[in-house]
Amino acid sequence: MSHAHAPVSADVIVVGGTGDLAMRKLLPALHHRDRAGQLADDSRIVAVSRAGLDHDGYRDKVSAELRDVAEDWSDDPSSRDHRFLRRLHHVALDVTDPQDWGDLVELLGPPDHRIRVLYLACAPRLFGPVSVGARRNGLVDDRSRVVLEKPLGHDLSSARQINDEVGEVFTEDQIFRIDHYLGKETVQNLLVLRFANSLFEPLWNAIGIDHVQISVAESVGAGSRADYYDGSGALRDMVQNHLLQLLCLVAMEPPARLDRDAVRDEKLKVLRALAPITGEDAHRHTVRGQYGPGLVDGAPVAGYRTELEQARPGAVGSPAPPSSTETFVALRTEVHNWRWAGVPFYLRTGKRMDRRASEIVVQFRPVPHSVFPQLDHGASAPPNRLVLRLQPDEGVRLHLAAKHPGPGGIRLHPAALDLSFADTFAQRLPDAYERLLMDVLRGNPTLFMRRDEIEAAWSWVEPILDSWRGSPRSPRPYPAGTSGPAAATALIERDGRTWHGDGDD
Ligand code: BG6
Repeated sequence: MSHAHAPVSADVIVVGGTGDLAMRKLLPALHHRDRAGQLADDSRIVAVSRAGLDHDGYRDKVSAELRDVAEDWSDDPSSRDHRFLRRLHHVALDVTDPQDWGDLVELLGPPDHRIRVLYLACAPRLFGPVSVGARRNGLVDDRSRVVLEKPLGHDLSSARQINDEVGEVFTEDQIFRIDHYLGKETVQNLLVLRFANSLFEPLWNAIGIDHVQISVAESVGAGSRADYYDGSGALRDMVQNHLLQLLCLVAMEPPARLDRDAVRDEKLKVLRALAPITGEDAHRHTVRGQYGPGLVDGAPVAGYRTELEQARPGAVGSPAPPSSTETFVALRTEVHNWRWAGVPFYLRTGKRMDRRASEIVVQFRPVPHSVFPQLDHGASAPPNRLVLRLQPDEGVRLHLAAKHPGPGGIRLHPAALDLSFADTFAQRLPDAYERLLMDVLRGNPTLFMRRDEIEAAWSWVEPILDSWRGSPRSPRPYPAGTSGPAAATALIERDGRTWHGDGDD
C-alpha cells in the first residue's frame, strides 16, 4: 500500500510545465502526494517551458490553480501547501536549441542521490530531440527515467520512430509510456476482482460469457482542442490506447505475478490475438461518426466542424472545413484464442454523447434451462451481467435475477448487487496521475506500456485507418447530446444484442 513506502527524493523535470496537462493534472497530483508525505524534503519540481516566468512567477501561477482545486488550501507559509510551492522552479528554455540548456543544468547541479525524472508533456515530435538534448547536457544517468505522454505517434511507423529515438538515450526499463486509464481506481479493481476473488474466474471464458462491451462516452466536445484533435480522431485518441488497454485487462490470462513483465506479457498476447479488421471488414465491423450541433444538458452546443473552425488560429469567419475526422467510433472484434473463441468484444467511444459514462460490461450466458415462470412483464430472466463503472460514480454492479416478494408462486425480478466505491471507502479517490507518478518515482513500470505493446496496438489499428482512408464514405453524422449514429446500434443489434444503458437497465 502506498503509505508503506518511504518518501522519494527526486527531481521531476516537466517539459511543457505551463501547459494544460501540467496545470490540470500533474501538479495537482504531485501536490496531493506531497500532502500525503510521499515526497522527501529535498525533492524538486522543475517546470521547463518557453514562458518568460521566474521561479516566483511560476509559483504564483501554480498556487492560483491549486487554490481552486485543492481542499483546505492553506496560506500559512509553514503549511505543507507552501512547502510544495517552494519545491517548484521554472526554467525558460527552448528545448530544441542545444545551446539553451545552461540554466537548467546549473539549477539541477551535478547528479546526486535524487532520481531524475524527465516528464515529456510536450509535442511527441520533441520526445526524441529532448531526450538527446538531456543526454548531451549530462542530465541522464543509469537511474534517470523518462515519461512519455500520449499520443505516441499517429501510426505504426511514427510510433516506431519515436521509440527508436528515445531508445537511443534511455533503456526500455527507464521509459514510462503513460496511459492514464491504467491508473484509474476501477481499472486496477478489475485486476483485483478477477484475480483476488475465486467467484468469477471459472466463468471468465467463452463457456460462461456471451460478450463484453467497453464504452467510454464523454459529454464534452473537442472544443478548444479541435485543431489538434482533427489530426487524430477517436480511433487514435481513445481506442488505440485506452480502450484496447481495458480490453487487455478483461481478456488477459492471469499473470504469474503482479510484476512489470508478467502483466505486460499477458496483455501483449491479447493484442496479438485480436481479430484483424481489414479492407471491407472495416465497413462491416466498425462505425465512425461525427457530431453536429445539438443539445447537451438542455443547452444548445455547436457541431464539431464549427468548433474546428473556431479553434483554428486566424480562421474565424472562414467556411467550416469539411473535416472527415471521427469523433465517435464503435467496433466489434474478437480475441482469437482458446479462452475467448467466438465471444464478441464491442468497443464504443465518442465525444458529445448524451452523458459521461465509462464502463466495462461483462454479459454472462443465460441459464441453460429455465424452471421459473417469466418476469413480471412477461420476459424471461435476463442473464447475469457484471458492470464495472469507471466514471463517474466508480463501482461494480452485478445484475441478478431475484424473487419478487409475495405468496402465490415464484415471480422473477431483476435486481442488482451494488458496490459503490464512494460509499464503501469513505475517502477521496486519488486521480490516476497520482498513482502513476508515484510508480514512476518508485521505478515500477507495471502499469505503463511497453514498446512491443504500443506497436502491437498500432499494428491492429492501422488497417482500420487505411480502410477508412480509402473509402468514399464519410463519418456518419449524429446530433450532439445523443448516443451516436444509429449504425452503432445496428452494429450490435445485428448480433441480437443491445448496448448496455440504451434503455435496458
Ligand atoms: C485523453 C484524450 O487521453 O483522454 C481526450 O486525449 C479524452 O480526448 C481523455 O477526453 C478522457 O480522459 P478521462 O480520464 O476524462 O476519461
